[in-house]
Amino acid sequence: MLTQDQLKLAVAKKALEFVPEDAIIGVGTGSTVNLFIEELAGIKGRIKGAVSSSEASTARLKAHHIPVFDLNEVEKLPVYIDGADEINHHLHMIKGGGAALTREKIVAGVADEFVCIADENKYVAMLGAFPLPIEVIPMARSYVARQLVKLGGHPELRQGVVTDNGNVIIDVHGLQIMKPVELEETINHIAGVVTCGLFARRRADVLVLGRQSGVQVLR
Ligand code: 5RP
Repeated sequence: MLTQDQLKLAVAKKALEFVPEDAIIGVGTGSTVNLFIEELAGIKGRIKGAVSSSEASTARLKAHHIPVFDLNEVEKLPVYIDGADEINHHLHMIKGGGAALTREKIVAGVADEFVCIADENKYVAMLGAFPLPIEVIPMARSYVARQLVKLGGHPELRQGVVTDNGNVIIDVHGLQIMKPVELEETINHIAGVVTCGLFARRRADVLVLGRQSGVQVLR
């Protein structure tokens, strides 16, 4: 029986197959991505560098002397590699467990291909058991929370967390997300919401899934 950490390592290693030669690639955030960055360090001579989705990943990339580019300097990203908190069979995701969802969504939006690296514990039939993270402008936090209650959720302010963009995170419990694309749009239209952690309009293109039976690549 492999542990969750061993499954994470297996997908981190497999993800190297999706790294094109001589390119700048998008790099996400989280413990699975941290393992991927370690693997990337081993082939860093084969890439130009990375655009990062968080201060934490930037620090790790720089510690390995992998050049980090500002997204505004880069016109094209062939691939973005990131983890997820939950991913369904349509490759819609919940992200933001690490509070980096806004920058993740921006970098993912630029990339031609989103490769999600996840272990099988995160592969679900319906999204919502993992509380949905939402980045919110601080002055709007109570208003946004009231609107989320109207949508059937139980919002909770993530204590002690300020995002890289200076905002707060509200985690929404108790949602059974039947229509991820519609819910993403509805939440994104609430004034004061910066980003909703549903990645459905821009879903993953590829899922590298770590299973007890081996690593599976799903499209
Ligand atoms: C960070 C994220 C991460 O991708 C997500 O939380 C998964 O993290 P981990 O690999 O540690 O399970 O969205 O904002």
